Amino acid sequence: MSNRAQFVTKMGVIAATVGSAVGLGNIWRFPYEAGQHGGGAFLIVYLLCVFLLGIPVMIAEFVIGRSTHSNALTALQKLKPGSSLSKVSYIGIVASLMILSFYSVVAGWIMEYLYQAVTGGLSGHTSEEYATLFSTFTVNPWRSVMWTLIFLLANFMVLRRGIEKGIERISNIMMPVLFVMLLVFCVNSLFMPQAKKGLDFLFNPDFSQITPKVMLGALGQAFFSLSLGLTCLLTYASYFSDKTPLVRSATVVALLDTLVAILSGIIIFPAVFSFDMEPAAGPKLVFQILPEIFQQLPGGYLWSVAFFLLLFFASITSTISMSEISITYFVEAHKMSRSRATGLNTVIAMTFGTLCALSFGVLSDFKVFGMTLFELFDYVSSNIMLPIGGVMLSVFVGWIVDKKVVEEQLTDYGARKITLMRPIRFCIRYVAPLCISLIFLYGLGVP
Ligand code: PFF
Repeated sequence: MSNRAQFVTKMGVIAATVGSAVGLGNIWRFPYEAGQHGGGAFLIVYLLCVFLLGIPVMIAEFVIGRSTHSNALTALQKLKPGSSLSKVSYIGIVASLMILSFYSVVAGWIMEYLYQAVTGGLSGHTSEEYATLFSTFTVNPWRSVMWTLIFLLANFMVLRRGIEKGIERISNIMMPVLFVMLLVFCVNSLFMPQAKKGLDFLFNPDFSQITPKVMLGALGQAFFSLSLGLTCLLTYASYFSDKTPLVRSATVVALLDTLVAILSGIIIFPAVFSFDMEPAAGPKLVFQILPEIFQQLPGGYLWSVAFFLLLFFASITSTISMSEISITYFVEAHKMSRSRATGLNTVIAMTFGTLCALSFGVLSDFKVFGMTLFELFDYVSSNIMLPIGGVMLSVFVGWIVDKKVVEEQLTDYGARKITLMRPIRFCIRYVAPLCISLIFLYGLGVP
């Protein structure tokens, strides 16, 4: 491991992992998923998924990554040669490329909105005009494909030059600023005429709405938002130092990530009801609401430019982390040069990203299982592949990896006493695999 990079500082570990977790999943996907799945009912299940299933799976990924300091496939083989569970790394590679493809489309929308914000195109419109702005842009094949490709090119440059460090450093400054901005927007939303209705929608659960579909949606969202189940955090943990506090880092990352999602909900839902919109509007939800919010704020121009710029950075720290999965694999398992591996990752994502971008326009009638390609990629990766990956990873750490290795990792090589050692192991062994499997099967309507 001597020639592998490592995160040097404690802050660096948390910042990079939070950088991976916090992104469009929190600010774009969480509100629309919550909006489509009954608000409060969704939030409750989501929180349970994060804390009872997400944190244990995250710890499991950390254990595998740090104890081996290798890419996912090698790591699993090192810990248990010949184990069929090591196939989880292939799920991770495919899922990460699928997510990168559709995620880049949304990141491309962010770039278009940033461009509109800078050139003044986001101010002075009516609600209908904001809705039209989004639909005409996403239907336009050239424009949305162009931004998707530009975003992937930016992602490529960062990865190829190995300037992730630079990006991490920038985002170490940007993330706290983004957080403060979200707080300001929250306060603003709390003063909107229908704020109470919005908050009720998000925080007052109607338990009768908790259906298997809502549960699977919440589970998928929790895993997507925490970057779990596809060995992304396993790969990051392979760069952790022996002193990194595993359990505490997992808890802090989960807490911060959840906080950002909830803040985003507090911003969006009061606005949804005040502007008389549909909470179940789907992927376009935040893109129609945010410009209206900025318009109301004094200095709206600056707010909108700053916000979309920060969101761009939040997106790229996430896409860097998901790209690392296949790049590290190509480099370490197939002995490819880093630049070729990065190129291959980008070409694949550009091909499928283009198809996903077109699925809002010329390919909108092309459906598989009733979903457009964009929806299919999102659904299959988040609601099917990530949960399956989560089960396999927790079973692997809970049942296959030597207990001593697990304890050594949980205590950071004996440096710390972990009071919750037994409950944590219990969750990794029983709670996570069982509950994830049950929600998964129920959600797909199996029994
Ligand atoms: N967690 C990221 C977000 O919420 O935007 C998305 C993500 C990053 C998913 C990395 C998967 C991944 F491997």
